[in-house]
Amino acid sequence: MTAGIWSFAESEAPAQRLAQALGFPHHCVALHRFPDGESLVSVAVGNHETAILYRSLDDPNIKIVELLLAASALRDNGAQRVVLVAPYLAYMRQDAAFHPGEAVSQRVIGQLLASHFDALVTVDPHLHRTGRLEDVVPGIPAIALSAAPALIAMLRHDLPADTVLVGPDGESRQWVSQVADGLGLDFLVGQKRRRGDHAVEIELPGIEKVAGRPALLIDDLISSGGTLRSCAALLRGAGAIRVEAAASHCLASASDLASLAEHGVARVRTADTVPGPTACAFVAPLIAAALRASELLQR
Ligand code: R5P
Repeated sequence: MTAGIWSFAESEAPAQRLAQALGFPHHCVALHRFPDGESLVSVAVGNHETAILYRSLDDPNIKIVELLLAASALRDNGAQRVVLVAPYLAYMRQDAAFHPGEAVSQRVIGQLLASHFDALVTVDPHLHRTGRLEDVVPGIPAIALSAAPALIAMLRHDLPADTVLVGPDGESRQWVSQVADGLGLDFLVGQKRRRGDHAVEIELPGIEKVAGRPALLIDDLISSGGTLRSCAALLRGAGAIRVEAAASHCLASASDLASLAEHGVARVRTADTVPGPTACAFVAPLIAAALRASELLQR
């Protein structure tokens, strides 16, 4: 079996890390955007039976279309199997119609990807009501990895031993407890009520334990940063001497990150599932190990 990895320019560094971990060649997908907004995608003609296409789906609306074009070009040029590695998978939060008339985005995007790819690998997909990633992409093998081992490896050497890990809500418990176990640290988990895209109300039962201690917020996703800002205010008010944050994915803009700093979050570090200034915990070794252990690279 011959295999190669293709990535778009913005994912070149993490895709090369994956190619190196697997010992596969890496190729760039060439992309041209026309003045009218259409995209022209082309792939180097490689003689690979299995093509691994690497792209995270932050800013998903344009990226998904270009991914489908790249998958088609790879098949036209000889790939018999096209595996999508999308370390951040978009549209997973809208897994139901929460108000009458809403589209169930998770189902639509999942079915679309399943009809164009032979397998999917992702990291910490936001699955809360849908139990398994296989149910999102019906009929193809799907692997959902956790970024927690990469976060633990990154945090292991520089957190004071009295740090309290803090999860904003019940959904974050799985990451907070895993990182706390891995580092032998104390943790607490809050409750969150979302009032709008940028408005959340947080309660942190047990917050009194952070007085005079550093706190590290842990979540799967930083989007606007509103959740972390609210938590940081509570932690500062309760006497935390320093507040930092770590997450699997960071979609926050430069101004959202600046606002977090202004609101007392001294440092934000995330896995490199989405390229950006906070991405410093590498998931390539985890993805490589999962691909090697799977049947996806077998003939
Ligand atoms: C929500 O369920 C997620 O786990 C994150 O807490 C949320 O997406 C963060 O969004 P924001 O940064 O906009 O508050």
